[in-house]
Amino acid sequence: MTKRRAKKSVSLLILGAGGDLTKRLLLPGLASLLSAHDYDVQVLGAAREERTDAEWRQLIRDSFGQVTEPEDADRYLESARYITGDVTDAEQLRTLIAACEHTPIIYFALPPAVTTQVCAALRQLDLPDGTRLALEKPFGTDLKSARALNRQIALLVPEEQVFRIDHFLGMSMVLNILGLRFANQFFESVWNGRRIERVEIVYDELLGLEGRGGYYDHAGALVDMLQSHLLEVLALVAMEQPPRLNEVELRSNAAQVLRATHVWDDDPAASSRRARYTAGKVGERSMPSYADEPGVDPALQTETLARVTLEVNTARWQGVPFVLRSGKALGKYVTQVRVHMRPVPEIPGFGGAPAPDSIMLDLKSGAVELGLTMNGSGDPFTLERSILQATKDLGDLLPYGQVLQGIVEGDPLLSVRADMAEESWRIFEPVLRAWRKGEVPLEEYTAGSLGPKGW
Ligand code: BG6
Repeated sequence: MTKRRAKKSVSLLILGAGGDLTKRLLLPGLASLLSAHDYDVQVLGAAREERTDAEWRQLIRDSFGQVTEPEDADRYLESARYITGDVTDAEQLRTLIAACEHTPIIYFALPPAVTTQVCAALRQLDLPDGTRLALEKPFGTDLKSARALNRQIALLVPEEQVFRIDHFLGMSMVLNILGLRFANQFFESVWNGRRIERVEIVYDELLGLEGRGGYYDHAGALVDMLQSHLLEVLALVAMEQPPRLNEVELRSNAAQVLRATHVWDDDPAASSRRARYTAGKVGERSMPSYADEPGVDPALQTETLARVTLEVNTARWQGVPFVLRSGKALGKYVTQVRVHMRPVPEIPGFGGAPAPDSIMLDLKSGAVELGLTMNGSGDPFTLERSILQATKDLGDLLPYGQVLQGIVEGDPLLSVRADMAEESWRIFEPVLRAWRKGEVPLEEYTAGSLGPKGW
């Protein structure tokens, strides 16, 4: 995507611009994009929260300050505007769209229920040609609502103009799964269930709620991370090679993986675990119990750590467990895809079976590690484990910048297609149902630990 040259002019209209996402991720992502690429972007914010144009411009400057120099924002400030109001109101939306000087990108930084209301209100307007819709996760709250939302959106703009956001698809190391897999004979010939025993995709965070209790308590680790981000990673690990790297081929192959994916043994109670943290220390930082965090209703029994085993039921992957795990307030930051090879038979004369090979990709640090067995250093007739390591430079473009570039270019390659959003709910609904029925106990772990004992 970085090679395209024609200068694009768009108006990025952020609905719900008062929230944490805009400040923490969206505007810094935009700044990283604009500091490297010459796009003409008018930045408009709209929300219920009162804010002046001057305050909005300052926020944009500060966001640039996080990734480059605040002055780099200056050329975008004159056209930037903030409009206070109710974004679910059709007349208000008419005013907002009229304020867009270029093709609007309507960015929904809103909870699913509000997004639905806005989509209904947008039906009453004539959207300018080429209007794009960008929607933050979670996309709906279950399969039924995701389907309904897709139907609503389809009445507004064609699917190629819809960008369901998953910033993991903008992560350099997530995209690197494709290069690594398809550009190397080493990998492609062993990338199947005959050679691979198990795949783990782990995203353990040190962070707690960071003031997002109101949102998180209704999502939980499964919806916040597994049902969205980690499933997209799984799709890239498991997909067949797309004949072309475009939005149709890449997303069709990812969707094919999701359609073939189901809970291991179709037994959600046996194939999933959930837990939440109790008071503890993560590094030097004291954390209260999740149940005592602001905005949390302990009766909702929301998990802050989830683990689910899935199977991708294709000829390539049948019988290989894909274990997805993510949690908050853990003692170790782990953002890895780990591929464990099947063991080779014992080698006569070498004193035992070698440990199986492994491949590890670290999504955040850029490290790629091959765990191999070689002859022992002291005694050549023994075996010894070695790690070959390379670290990839992740580049300067932030994941949100990468995803935004697709939206500005009008290329949905890195966004989630309608059917993929629905499949991801279909895959996890049996687990959510089992959890609601209490078939899987809500375990506990101390904040700062590595999770419940025995996981
Ligand atoms: C977000 C989740 O989508 O992804 C957060 O809502 C999570 O809870 C974050 O912390 C993880 O991504 P990153 O890029 O911040 O490591």
